[in-house]
Amino acid sequence: MNPLAEQLNDQIKKNNPHVFEMLSPFGKRLFFPKGILSQSAEAKEKAHRFNATIGIALENGEAMHLACIQDMLKGIRPDDAFPYAPAAGKLALREKWKEKQIAESPSLEDKTIGRPIATNALTHGLTLVGDLFVEPGDTILLPDKFWGNYRLILEVRKQGRIVTYPFYSASGGFDVQAFEKGIEEQTAGGKKLIVLLNFPNNPTGYSINKAEADAISGVLIEAARKGARLVVVLDEAYYGLFYADDLFRESLLGKLANQDERLLVVKLDGATKEEFVWGFRVGFLTFGIGGAGDQQAVYEALEKKTMGAIRGSISNSPHLPQTLVLKALESPDFRKQQAEKFALLEGRARKVMQVLENPKYEEAWTVYPFNAGYFMCMALKGVEGETLRKHLLDTYGVGLIAAGGNDVRVAFSCIEEENVVELFELIYKGVMDLKS
Ligand SMILES: Cc1ncc(COP(=O)(O)O)c(C=O)c1O
Repeated sequence: MNPLAEQLNDQIKKNNPHVFEMLSPFGKRLFFPKGILSQSAEAKEKAHRFNATIGIALENGEAMHLACIQDMLKGIRPDDAFPYAPAAGKLALREKWKEKQIAESPSLEDKTIGRPIATNALTHGLTLVGDLFVEPGDTILLPDKFWGNYRLILEVRKQGRIVTYPFYSASGGFDVQAFEKGIEEQTAGGKKLIVLLNFPNNPTGYSINKAEADAISGVLIEAARKGARLVVVLDEAYYGLFYADDLFRESLLGKLANQDERLLVVKLDGATKEEFVWGFRVGFLTFGIGGAGDQQAVYEALEKKTMGAIRGSISNSPHLPQTLVLKALESPDFRKQQAEKFALLEGRARKVMQVLENPKYEEAWTVYPFNAGYFMCMALKGVEGETLRKHLLDTYGVGLIAAGGNDVRVAFSCIEEENVVELFELIYKGVMDLKS
């Protein structure tokens, strides 16, 4: 074990031994090397004469660059585009994102949480969670409808074991009882458990209401108090896209942070969906822990380990998109423009809800409740999702996702409001063709 990893482990153990036990063997070995990066950070402060440390090139006191690239970046300084970003991301962006998180979830105001660490968007955040906390055989508890990439990241890559519980209760809400039962079963004997929650959800387009948020956090806090070690991962990729009044509009981090020493929360969020910059790859990973020890010391050590995982894989996330997202967050027009796009998506969701009220559709499918995000799902009656998917493509030029068994997922986020009626008419036709 590298002495720097040992130091970080001691720092965590001293202040929260449960968090140390949650780390995977790789997580325990991780550290952030005092190599080129820290020497060059020191040089940035003190090397007033010549700074010959880091592997970029300088010219006239700024990052060397090609005019044909810089000319496309009006208003961006070369130093904010071309050099490497720090392993944990641009500091100003991290601080601005934290401000945004607190503004959106006021219950975070009086909580001690880590500083968001920039990731190569949420997929990378999930991979980092896998690096830090998942070892072969570890259980990951998920509802039975989830984003398929979790399998690749946590099962194929990390050899975790996904165990599911029913997503919906009989009344059409989130099945809190099934969730509670899943937690009880999977933590029997005080075992470590990784719990992954994704609201607003992909694929269902369902987000929890306030009562469900209270119940879910109650179950988790209670299980931790009873002795289970829980790593609760909050995938909040679609944060902010809420289309019903009684929805819980904060991050669950506010309810779960600082609640119990055995409860470690990892919030994953980002600009991907919220700011409509899917290809920029700007996301964040934020820790929330509990316990009486020095929480700042634990955050610091977890941050260094996360930086080590980043340094040892992608080295750092791209700089230019971080600068663009930071500038967007600083723009006085940001919230207004974002609200306009959110309203457009809400209009589409409401149109879908209205169109689906047509009683004739009852013979073709059952609609799963949805109220948020980009998607909605339907269970087809008597037709396989994959059969319909192919038929719609071949016959009507309509693409949707077969989501396993009879389920299909429709991304209404991609369909203009005036086309919603036609889309569902064609899906209906497709189902009826196959039934006859
Ligand atoms: C639930 C969920 N989490 C994470 C992601 C990945 O987001 P990113 O593009 O930020 O990696 C997606 C993207 O489809 C998603 O649906």
